[in-house]
Amino acid sequence: MAEPTGATHLDDLAAYLAARYPIFGDVVDRGFAAFGTPWANEFEATLATMFAKPEALSLAASGYASFALDLMRRQVRFERERTYPAKTYEEAAREVYHDEAYMTSEYLPGLLLSHYLWPHHYRQARFFDSAFVAEMRVAQASHFIEVGCGTGFYSRRLLQQLPDIRGVGYEISPASKAFTEGQVAAFGFADRYEVLLQDIADRDMASTQWLVCVEVLEHLEDPVAFLRLLRASLAPGGKAFITAALNAPHVDHIYLYVQSAEVEAQLEAAGFTLEQTFVGVAHPPRAPGLPVPLVAAYIVA
Ligand SMILES: C[S@@+](CC[C@H](N)C(=O)[O-])C[C@H]1O[C@@H](n2cnc3c(N)ncnc32)[C@H](O)[C@@H]1O
Repeated sequence: MAEPTGATHLDDLAAYLAARYPIFGDVVDRGFAAFGTPWANEFEATLATMFAKPEALSLAASGYASFALDLMRRQVRFERERTYPAKTYEEAAREVYHDEAYMTSEYLPGLLLSHYLWPHHYRQARFFDSAFVAEMRVAQASHFIEVGCGTGFYSRRLLQQLPDIRGVGYEISPASKAFTEGQVAAFGFADRYEVLLQDIADRDMASTQWLVCVEVLEHLEDPVAFLRLLRASLAPGGKAFITAALNAPHVDHIYLYVQSAEVEAQLEAAGFTLEQTFVGVAHPPRAPGLPVPLVAAYIVA
């Protein structure tokens, strides 16, 4: 069980994973050891708000376990082959973003829990808070856009920390739209946020001073073309928080980034200026020389 924090849902999550998925039996303990009580309190609030009832929590836990186990199997293959299996954007969209049952039972709860349970994901969220949200607060930001809001984790974080801000999410997946709307509403922010079901490649999005795009680039065939669209929507003086996943063979990752320098070169090619950078590793290499999943996050102007 996790350290006693009084965090009932977190204790239940740890107990459920330990009983059903022993391989994940210590993930909550490891999170607590790495990030302490602030992490436990924040995670508990998310679980209690999103998955209040025991059945909802156990479904989220098993969704997370399936999501993580699938990735572990793909990682073994990736370590051998060093490429992602060939897949078009259309195929990924059909197989993943438009498969409502898979998105709802596995992908979205898996991703949401990973923002706390995977140290590189949580460190990226803290970089977002300390570098990007802090700058928005000082600038008295009033509006933001998130492209590819997925679970809604980052939009909700912004709405929570900046009580006067309003936002718009752009998504192509009806399941992601619904999950994001559910999260934002569960936290009481529905009147400050809406999700538009729209691919920004098909129709221009609005202009904004503050743009967020977390872990979308590796889902695309042509990330630079997409980054140019993001750049075009940034108002003069605006800033963006843009991230990519590297060496991470998720089912819907079709563009392989091996080193963060590749993401940086694409951001610059699209017209962005790099201001701040965070690169986090998921874990040490499983053997010398093997690739390690990374996240790379940038604040760009
Ligand atoms: C890994 S998730 C993003 C994670 C999300 N930012 C979060 O923190 O939960 C990728 C999301 O990008 C969305 N997506 C893929 N292509 C897109 C596009 N062209 N425009 C907007 N969203 C897109 C998918 O539907 C999916 O929900």
